[in-house]
Amino acid sequence: MDVFKAVSSRLEIREFADKPVPDEVKLRVLEAARLSPSGVNTQHWRFILVDDKKALRELADMSTTGKWVGDAAFAVIVLTDPKYPFHRLDAGRVISSMQLVAWEDGVGSRIYTGIDEQRMRGRFGIPQSLEITAVVGFGYPKRRVLGRKNRLPLEKVAFQGRYGEPLSLKH
Ligand SMILES: Cc1cc2nc3c(=O)[nH]c(=O)nc-3n(C[C@H](O)[C@H](O)[C@H](O)COP(=O)(O)O)c2cc1C
Repeated sequence: MDVFKAVSSRLEIREFADKPVPDEVKLRVLEAARLSPSGVNTQHWRFILVDDKKALRELADMSTTGKWVGDAAFAVIVLTDPKYPFHRLDAGRVISSMQLVAWEDGVGSRIYTGIDEQRMRGRFGIPQSLEITAVVGFGYPKRRVLGRKNRLPLEKVAFQGRYGEPLSLKH
């Protein structure tokens, strides 16, 4: 899949098929995270793979905005070091890399940020020094992912030369 096609076709899903994802895909997703860039190459992020059904259900129970993760084939908890002012920007890059690489293998995903922090820290042994920035749930989509992205038109969000100036690109 070419990169633009991956970006343009990927939708966030929360309905997953009851079908395991091969370990090699999980590994590729984690490798994509590891290979992502970070501010001053600090690589402060850490990742916890959760692929045990019981643990995924516990994760769902500890979530306020991602209950759907209970049906995912696996999840990655993304931890970042809040001492770096750019730590969430780095997390965003990691998450995009993981989601696009998964999508290349037909594995859909969605992110959530609403969590019961204390319970998650205790259950997954997460040190206080790291922020639980997001959780990403992955799995094969339950139904075919068709549909259009609900996005603002390009002329509304992109300008040329100066804020508010329309694009004058040929196509
Ligand atoms: C920073 C961020 C936080 C998000 N938090 C949640 C969340 O807590 N729960 C959830 O179900 N989806 C969450 N999402 C998913 C967004 O709702 C989704 O990316 C957006 O609706 C676009 O989806 P689409 O690409 O399928 O159109 C989050 C996305 C981002 C980028």
